Amino acid sequence: MKKLLALVLALTLCLGIASAFAADKVGVSMPTQDLQRWVQDGENMQKELEANEYEVMLTYSANNVATQVADLENMITNGCKVLVVASIDGGALGDVLAKAKEAGIMVIAYDRLLMGTDAVDYYATFDNYKVGTIQANFIKEKFDLDADDGKTYRMEVFAGSPDDNNALYFYNGAMDALKPYIESGKLVVPSGETEFNTCAILGWGTDDAQARMDNLLAKAYTDGSFPDLVLSPNDSLAMGIANSLEAAGCPLDSFPVITGQDCDKANMKNIIAGKQSMSVFKDTRTLAAQVVEMVNYYLLGEEVPVNDTTTYDNGVKVVPSFLCDPVFADINNYTELLIDSGYYTPEDLGL
Ligand code: BGC
Repeated sequence: MKKLLALVLALTLCLGIASAFAADKVGVSMPTQDLQRWVQDGENMQKELEANEYEVMLTYSANNVATQVADLENMITNGCKVLVVASIDGGALGDVLAKAKEAGIMVIAYDRLLMGTDAVDYYATFDNYKVGTIQANFIKEKFDLDADDGKTYRMEVFAGSPDDNNALYFYNGAMDALKPYIESGKLVVPSGETEFNTCAILGWGTDDAQARMDNLLAKAYTDGSFPDLVLSPNDSLAMGIANSLEAAGCPLDSFPVITGQDCDKANMKNIIAGKQSMSVFKDTRTLAAQVVEMVNYYLLGEEVPVNDTTTYDNGVKVVPSFLCDPVFADINNYTELLIDSGYYTPEDLGL
């Protein structure tokens, strides 16, 4: 009997020690592998977390909300202490996040805010409004919009997915700066479509952006001309817009100015080829490092670093956020920004 007791005690002790040394498990839920940026986000998160000795459960949900819910449920069942979630539809995860909260799991909204829930603890992203401002400032400078030279320019407007809270920030950041020029007549929108809802592309799809650009050309450019500029919130839409213009026979030397965001490889190739004018670099290494720091502080029971406690209201609470800085990228600085920094190899960009 004594022997048995000793054995049980020894076993309990071993298990205790083992669990004290077992790595904390962190779940990382990414929306899709279709878009390069999310693959990179996932890989960087995994690398950073593993370097900090966490065990990582990384999933991609094929842009399917039900799959993302199942992935998160799996992470909860598997004992994750922290969930890092880049949502497909920011408002569709309330129930599963409530379960996480009940289980005492910390939830960080990654890049996109989780809406309508009190079960999100922190938000880590890039300054989304500033992304739009950077795009608008580029357009202002490129066309010298403040010049009193009697020139006018024809513009079309695209916006991101309405189920992604970021999309409105991108739109507002850009349109707050550009609307005065539309009102003064310096910028003309031949299609007449400028409202967020009319310009939005659900799901951020390249093909859908291409189809809308085809429609705009058929509707408002019947003389075979092309716009001078197209405001695109990100690279996946910019790609569709460029594809449409190319298919419609737009000559390269008069290709419209097209904005973007993410510095995806295919879009950097388009910038080099003159089919896109700029992008916004959001270094996923920076965001991953920031999130891992937040996880570290949290698990050590210390105050989690944030730099914005007023902007991101998800309808239930203002979520304490850390905003990283987005950076302007174009043909003139991409080498330094993307290649010299080791983000891409020259081969990645077809160089
Ligand atoms: C991200 C962008 C991305 C877009 C489409 C947004 O939430 O912030 O970087 O281009 O989603 O995936």
